[in-house]
Amino acid sequence: MSDHRGELEGKVAIVTGAAMPGNIGAATAEVLAREGARVVLADVTGDQLADTTAALAAKGYSVACQVADISSEDAVKALIAFTLEKFGRLDVIDNNAARTSPEHDLLVGDMEVEWWDRTFAINTRGTMLMCKHALPAMIKGGGGSIVNISSGTVLGGNFFSTAYASSKAAVESLTRYIATQYGPQKIRCNAVSPGPVMTSSLEKGLSPEMREIFRRHTLTGDYAKPSEIGEAVSFLASDRASFITGQVLQVDGGIGAHLCTSTDLAELMSQGM
Ligand SMILES: NC(=O)c1ccc[n+]([C@@H]2O[C@H](COP(=O)([O-])OP(=O)(O)OC[C@H]3O[C@@H](n4cnc5c(N)ncnc54)[C@H](O)[C@@H]3O)[C@@H](O)[C@H]2O)c1
Repeated sequence: MSDHRGELEGKVAIVTGAAMPGNIGAATAEVLAREGARVVLADVTGDQLADTTAALAAKGYSVACQVADISSEDAVKALIAFTLEKFGRLDVIDNNAARTSPEHDLLVGDMEVEWWDRTFAINTRGTMLMCKHALPAMIKGGGGSIVNISSGTVLGGNFFSTAYASSKAAVESLTRYIATQYGPQKIRCNAVSPGPVMTSSLEKGLSPEMREIFRRHTLTGDYAKPSEIGEAVSFLASDRASFITGQVLQVDGGIGAHLCTSTDLAELMSQGM
């Protein structure tokens, strides 16, 4: 049985950060295309972007791609113009592109200003620029749905991802501001906040010890597949979510839903104490 519902039939979507097969953006582009959307895949470099797009086209999906650095206003304008020229309208944007680095982004006391600023330039300014320049086209077309990708790192403090988590917290705030300001023009704006997702990059880069820490704290017992984030984006993009706006949807296997003590308590209880 096909899992295709066609609930994005007639819509045009942009997914940023979609070049890498096995990662969230590429998986989301496929879910949106499977639901009938025509999709523009965008990324900062052309490496892999054309191949990922060609692989979707070979499955019969209506897709195109454009290289765009979302931190650049000119590049974002060109991406929106390309989409309108190619597909004639714009209904959905999935602001998925982001920069992370476990090596650079550690304690506040060691934070390099250049790193902090570049993280915000991509994750926060880039998301804002995409919204800024997509809004006129979406409003002209009668409305639309913006889905910003946040992160579970926003939910509490940690020893790494300081700049990244701060930039994503700003994205959540931006989400509510856009929902407030453009709701009357039929724009919905929500965020999806993933927990640990086993992307092809993490598969290569994560040590077995780190992998186990995240797995142990996820209530569903394992990492998400990239497509599980794509399914949440697709729902929020669709008319089924017509009364949902200004929300942050945790798609995190429950990692943010329990107190940090509960995993240790469960272990203690399993030992009969
Ligand atoms: N993987 C996880 O466990 C996880 C957890 C929480 C949140 N997220 C979020 O999900 C999204 C996708 O993450 P991923 O794990 O697939 O990471 P990823 O690094 O594979 O994806 C990010 C993509 O964004 C692109 N990108 C970076 N800078 C850009 C720029 N200036 N302009 C355009 N594109 C740019 C990269 O080239 C890359 O293809 C990100 O927003 C990330 O913060 C991921």
